[in-house]
Amino acid sequence: MSQAEWTAVDDYLVDALLEADPVLDAALADSDAAGLPQIAVAPNQGKLLMLLAQACGARRILEIGTLGGYSTIWLARALPADGRLVSLEYDPKHAEVARKNLARAGFADRAEVRVGRGVDLLPQVEGPIDFTFIDADKASNPDYFSGALGLSRPGSLIVVDNVVRGGAVTDPNGDANVQGIRRMNAMIAAEPRVSATAVQTVGSKGWDGFCLIRVVS
Ligand code: SAH
Ligand code: DHB
Ligand code: MG
Repeated sequence: MSQAEWTAVDDYLVDALLEADPVLDAALADSDAAGLPQIAVAPNQGKLLMLLAQACGARRILEIGTLGGYSTIWLARALPADGRLVSLEYDPKHAEVARKNLARAGFADRAEVRVGRGVDLLPQVEGPIDFTFIDADKASNPDYFSGALGLSRPGSLIVVDNVVRGGAVTDPNGDANVQGIRRMNAMIAAEPRVSATAVQTVGSKGWDGFCLIRVVS
């Protein structure tokens, strides 16, 4: 199987199951125009995040790694009218693009982008958080996992993006990102408060995967 085939299948799935989405199209167009990297989740992945957040009845959502707010908009769509979302982003330019995209999507009142390093901002986030999406610098995943766990309550869900990285995750001597993912996995395995799995994905974003963590106590 090749990237062209994975992309063709994603194109088909998105066409078959997702509605036309001018607000998200505009968010991506403005992200591109501002020169942001094209590393947002795919549309079918974004909708998966929304469905997972809805399935656990999330009223308070935390995201680490906003970029242009594409995944943020999907997550905000899971919120009830009085719900809240906080997204943490290191790059002020990314945050500015994201705030405009969130405002156009109608979430200026519910979704807030905070600028700084995730590890520095996490201590100021108010819990409890029902759903966390971790998608920033992968080297910090151990800190993001413990921060998210500390903000969680029993029943909360934590989802981590990019945990396979084209298979690189199997290399014990991999780069800092791989080390971050592997150390996070070891922490998860040793943590009695959570139950977790990870799944590989192929699609328009290549070969990667999600880790799904349910906080049980
Ligand atoms: N969640 C987005 C994609 C995020 S890309 C989506 O799917 O639409 C990763 C983002 O994490 C980038 O915007 C990058 O600037 C940000 N980032 C990198 N290091 C960070 C850090 N230490 N703290 C917070 N954000 C960081
Ligand atoms: C990268 C980061 C991401 O969050 C992603 O989904 C894909 C790639 C990266 O840093 O290369
Ligand atoms: Mg990602």
